[in-house]
Amino acid sequence: MSRPDTTSHTILAESAYRDDRHLAARQSLYRWQQPSYDMPGLVLEHLPATHGVVLDVGCGNGKYLTRLRSQRPDLTVIGLDISAGIVANVGPPVVVADAARLPIADHCAVAVLAMHMLYHVEDVHAALEHAARVLAPGGTFIASTNARDDKKELDDLWAAAAADVLGVERGPRRLSLSSRFALDDAPDVLRPYFVDVRVLELPGTITVREPEPVIAHLASYRAWANAAGVPFDATLERARQLLDDMIDRDGAFRISCRGGILLCHTTEQRSAQSPVPG
Ligand SMILES: C[S@@+](CC[C@H](N)C(=O)[O-])C[C@H]1O[C@@H](n2cnc3c(N)ncnc32)[C@H](O)[C@@H]1O
Repeated sequence: MSRPDTTSHTILAESAYRDDRHLAARQSLYRWQQPSYDMPGLVLEHLPATHGVVLDVGCGNGKYLTRLRSQRPDLTVIGLDISAGIVANVGPPVVVADAARLPIADHCAVAVLAMHMLYHVEDVHAALEHAARVLAPGGTFIASTNARDDKKELDDLWAAAAADVLGVERGPRRLSLSSRFALDDAPDVLRPYFVDVRVLELPGTITVREPEPVIAHLASYRAWANAAGVPFDATLERARQLLDDMIDRDGAFRISCRGGILLCHTTEQRSAQSPVPG
């Protein structure tokens, strides 16, 4: 079984985020979450009041960037992403670039976003050094991720389906994308680079009454199917049957969500950040 390389540029740019199909499947599951959170709206609330450049690093299909551009026309919002495919339909300015090597001058941005993306960066510390480097003194850094026990019911569902497919008591764990930069540890990871680190926890429950949105979410991990340790399609099919049974029995399937937003700033003094090689 090969290592589930959730940071491989080739897998990310040519498969997982070659277009926004898989990302959209994961984003759309939140339609059934209560309470629901307007994530771009929360980011807007915490952006600096002043005009200037905002970098949306790992901008994906532009969920944040689109709202920021329409509601804050005083800001120049630049999207950056490792995948040329996923940004194809995001309006300019957009740059194909790696978060760990931002091709952006020092101290030129009033805010940097890294929404649900740092866990894909092999060298998270390099990405944070670059974010701190490109921010102006007192600039705003906003990131988001999930806690380790986020959507644990999906883990249990996958493990049960995998166990049935393999004919064993306990199937292999579902791949966890966010655990490399989990909400639980994120504040400690951010503190060497930023000040005023705060966590906005966004707990909720997704309730679905049909299997499709959940199966689409599980299927969105197909880019890493070779590392699943179980036949991917057979496990998906078994998960669908188990889900059908649970929904028939209980009327719904509930998933507990533990995501959050991290808010912080660079220091007001310029000398605090040492430049990193670009
Ligand atoms: C889960 S998606 C999040 C997209 C968007 N920020 C959002 O929250 O809707 C992760 C995005 O990060 C991008 N990405 C992954 N590794 C990256 C890297 N090293 N540098 C820049 N972008 C990266 C992926 O291509 C993908 O578009």
